[in-house]
Amino acid sequence: HAAGTVIAVDGPAAAGKTTTCLALANTFGLRYLESGRTYRIIAFEALRREIPVDDTREITGLCDELLMESRTESLLTAERYASDKLRETPVNVAVSAVAKIAEVRQRVTGLIRLWAKTQAQCVVEGRDIGTAVFPAARVKFYLTASPEVRAMRRVRQERADSYENVLADVIRRDEADMNRAASPLVAAEDAIRIDTTRLTIDQVTSRMASACRNQGLEIIRQCE
Ligand code: CDP
Ligand code: CDP
Repeated sequence: HAAGTVIAVDGPAAAGKTTTCLALANTFGLRYLESGRTYRIIAFEALRREIPVDDTREITGLCDELLMESRTESLLTAERYASDKLRETPVNVAVSAVAKIAEVRQRVTGLIRLWAKTQAQCVVEGRDIGTAVFPAARVKFYLTASPEVRAMRRVRQERADSYENVLADVIRRDEADMNRAASPLVAAEDAIRIDTTRLTIDQVTSRMASACRNQGLEIIRQCE
């Protein structure tokens, strides 16, 4: 990716990707993209249209239809999908199946690369950003934390479900994302790994910000 600077942030659910990416975007003047949202939109539409999420041909067809219906950017940033709808339990379950399909990943990857070409500097979060989408990213981070701490964070954040259910979902999604054949969740060899289990958001953000500065990124705003 020659056009601009890409910061890649990967890791499992509730590792702190969104929160820290938004802070970095603010500090360094980066455009921000949450790639998981696009996988969630595809899963949401599959459920709405009652398409079996493990049917590769049907889901790939749905994917193409959605891409055709929308301008390229809108499946990535589409605001007509409310975030709380995309985070409901059925979508959490369906998204792992949809994200397993290589044809779907290929299409979403294409969209993200196209979007990034039009950005001078961006930070993109997901599961395979530093490994598959932008292997040549300027800076790569891999955030983790224990499943228990991550589940606790999600419960505090969303208050919609019990700790036990959220923990089970976190563990199930970790396993599905890490063990699939198509671009599984794994740290890139050159990623900076941060275990956030015992770190505050500010501590994680400032470590990430210094790594970005070391790579020549310029601060345009102080971290709040
Ligand atoms: O916010 P949270 O970490 O819970 O999930 P997300 O980032 O919205 O991602 C939802 C799901 O999409 C993940 O569990 C993966 O199955 C899939 N995903 C992916 O496969 N590759 C990406 N680059 C981003 C998300
Ligand atoms: O994007 P991802 O799913 O990786 O996580 P997030 O949405 O950024 O973080 C999930 C929740 O954990 C948020 O409410 C954060 O404020 C919280 N968090 C935390 O308490 N401590 C951290 N070191 C990171 C995140």
